[in-house]
Amino acid sequence: MIRVGIVGGSGYTGGELLRLLLFHPNAEVVQITSRSEAGKYVYTVHPNLRGVTQLQFIHPDALQPCDVLFLALPHRTVAGDIERYAALAPYLIDLSADFRLRDAATYQQWYGAEHPAPEWLERFVYGLPELNREALRGANYASGVGCNATTVNLALWPLAQAGWLERAAIELKVGSSEGGNQANAGSHHPVRSGAVRTYSPTGHRHMAEVEMMLNPQFPIHFSITAIEMVRGIHLLAHCYLNEPHAEKEIWKLYRGAYKTEPFIRLVSGKSGLHRFPEPRIVAGTNYCDIGFELDADNQHLVVIAALDNLGKGAAGSAVQCMNLMQNLDECAGLQFPGIYP
Ligand SMILES: NC(=O)c1ccc[n+]([C@@H]2O[C@H](COP(=O)([O-])OP(=O)(O)OC[C@H]3O[C@@H](n4cnc5c(N)ncnc54)[C@H](OP(=O)(O)O)[C@@H]3O)[C@@H](O)[C@H]2O)c1
Repeated sequence: MIRVGIVGGSGYTGGELLRLLLFHPNAEVVQITSRSEAGKYVYTVHPNLRGVTQLQFIHPDALQPCDVLFLALPHRTVAGDIERYAALAPYLIDLSADFRLRDAATYQQWYGAEHPAPEWLERFVYGLPELNREALRGANYASGVGCNATTVNLALWPLAQAGWLERAAIELKVGSSEGGNQANAGSHHPVRSGAVRTYSPTGHRHMAEVEMMLNPQFPIHFSITAIEMVRGIHLLAHCYLNEPHAEKEIWKLYRGAYKTEPFIRLVSGKSGLHRFPEPRIVAGTNYCDIGFELDADNQHLVVIAALDNLGKGAAGSAVQCMNLMQNLDECAGLQFPGIYP
């Protein structure tokens, strides 16, 4: 069994990592940290895990060496301590944004501060298995992914690769758990409940990860709107193709790109209620569902995608990375199909 530790275990992605790893056939969670909850049973913070585990939180200062250490801390709190974490485990998977980008100048441009450990940036592999699988196999250090960036990257990657896009304008509707477990003015119930609040019409920092992975040679924009949902991201992209394509060509492109991907499902029905991806259907899973509809001109393509920000957008991809890094079955511990209705 691989001996795993989780740092930042009282948070939302930490809790989701724990939920997945407790049922992983090849991993044992041997330690999980929280400064505020040290000494308490994990189920007092993650009540869905009551009766499943008797683990207790430890303070981060009490961390012991282990095989794989997941870091589920706010961004800008990991990089300064990276030498300490690396001394504790040969394999690190950092869900924060600290090691997602490959150069310090781009990091400074998007995060507005100097990178505290720029020499480590090159050592990390961006942790999106579908686009970086070979680099992740056997890697020691993987970053997590931005949940919004992942939805955009997976939805548009086949079109970007094929060079078919002239431009793309994207709207992302997102749930409240994206913001983590710390309350703020925007998460107060009377403010957040029922909200449809656009908070990032342009310039969201996840664009840096889209530029890094898609290397777009076309204008691409995305906006983010908070809606009444706890988990989930819904993407709707207006894609303008540089020449007309028949629907069967679009199908062929997406099938070709994703037919062997265990966690990408193409959802594009002609009839029925669930013709297109919906966040509710993928909640709690590691799936990203992707669909599309082509307009009558064969050039305006609407791409729709959905994933769980805490699942495929964070903990699910991170566990998939661990599986690749440890040469395990890539799907181990991740095959939950979701619930319905
Ligand atoms: N939420 C998402 O949808 C999502 C998706 C993708 C990636 N991410 C990334 O994943 C990371 C964690 O996000 P989250 O939503 O799980 O955050 P969160 O709910 O706020 O949890 C973070 C946890 O880290 C601990 N912590 C905070 N500051 C710390 C510090 N300076 N040193 C040690 N521990 C500290 C806190 O626990 P204690 O105070 O108890 O120690 C807290 O419970 C973030 O970097 C985020 O960008 C989040």
